Amino acid sequence: MPAFKMGFQKLQGTVCVTGAGGFLGSWVVHLLLSKNYLVRGTVRDPLDEKYAHLNQLPNASSNLKLVKADLLDYPSLFSAIQGCSGVFHVASPLPSSPVDLIEPAVTGTLNVLKACLEAKVERVVVVSSGAALMMNPSWPDTRAMDESCWSDVEHCRAIENWYCASKTEAESKAFEFGKANGLDVVSACPNLIFGPILQPTANASSLLLAKLLKEGHDLEDNRHHRIVDVRDVAEALVLVYEKPEAQGRYICTSHSVHVKDIVDILKDEYPSYNYPKNFTDGQQKKEMSSEKLQRLGWSYRSLQETLVDSVESYKKAGLLD
Ligand SMILES: NC(=O)c1ccc[n+]([C@@H]2O[C@H](COP(=O)([O-])OP(=O)(O)OC[C@H]3O[C@@H](n4cnc5c(N)ncnc54)[C@H](OP(=O)(O)O)[C@@H]3O)[C@@H](O)[C@H]2O)c1
Repeated sequence: MPAFKMGFQKLQGTVCVTGAGGFLGSWVVHLLLSKNYLVRGTVRDPLDEKYAHLNQLPNASSNLKLVKADLLDYPSLFSAIQGCSGVFHVASPLPSSPVDLIEPAVTGTLNVLKACLEAKVERVVVVSSGAALMMNPSWPDTRAMDESCWSDVEHCRAIENWYCASKTEAESKAFEFGKANGLDVVSACPNLIFGPILQPTANASSLLLAKLLKEGHDLEDNRHHRIVDVRDVAEALVLVYEKPEAQGRYICTSHSVHVKDIVDILKDEYPSYNYPKNFTDGQQKKEMSSEKLQRLGWSYRSLQETLVDSVESYKKAGLLD
């Protein structure tokens, strides 16, 4: 299993990770355990076998507790968060219908923040998304998007991009709540996350990559993506939690590429998979900058390392069979 280096520092405080069993949540738990934090991970059904990987992480037997909580069930969130000095709010619903998506994302985030306030949590790290920045038609084409850029929620609704609307609303309401109540809220906005999976089933972004190796489309849309490694996102979340000077939002992005660039790297390493045969013309999108996060001390892996480690983990999980 790809692992973080285990630290030898003294025991850290108790922190809560919502959505601990997901793709990113699992890596955040892994990193926190490796840094000797006591971790409470929220899951919706602690007895489900799909969380078994968490109990196998180094330090899990002594320092990890899985607790049942749902974003829409305040008492369950409060009991998970009570006694924690920090919270990493990673959980977010998957896009299915607008109602299913926006309600848990916004109400769920506010429930987490209310519980943090009541439990006197010192800092909350909210996982937002590049989706909360990129849908901004009035941002100039020539200027890289920075943290002052917000997606236009009305525009997202008009084009029925419910995921962008939900992440934008959830993040902006989180900052409003923090400001109104004196709660220390910081956010991270990762773009498309690839990298090795720890959990047994693939999440949406990992499936996107796995499909490129399997489906062999005659013509693939050569879309532009901004990619970041899941381990680098976990590092970013813990960095913005630990650095006292961190404040506001942090764009978390590493590589700006088209689908064909990804396929070219994969083909060099793994020539025999069933790749797309042709590509449409790629369109360049507005750039985004992680300079603010880098100034805080963040660095990131090469795209090659991310892609190879992703594929190796998919092979182990049987995703490419
Ligand atoms: N993957 C990406 O490319 C990407 C990019 C930008 C931002 N993000 C953000 O990163 C975060 C993690 O995404 P991921 O890719 O790791 O997704 P994931 O693997 O699907 O994990 C999502 C987690 O949210 C939990 N969840 C969903 N609805 C819930 C509810 N009502 N109550 C409690 N927990 C709930 C799920 O819990 P169960 O285990 O109980 O199902 C799951 O653990 C999300 O906030 C997402 O918006 C992801």
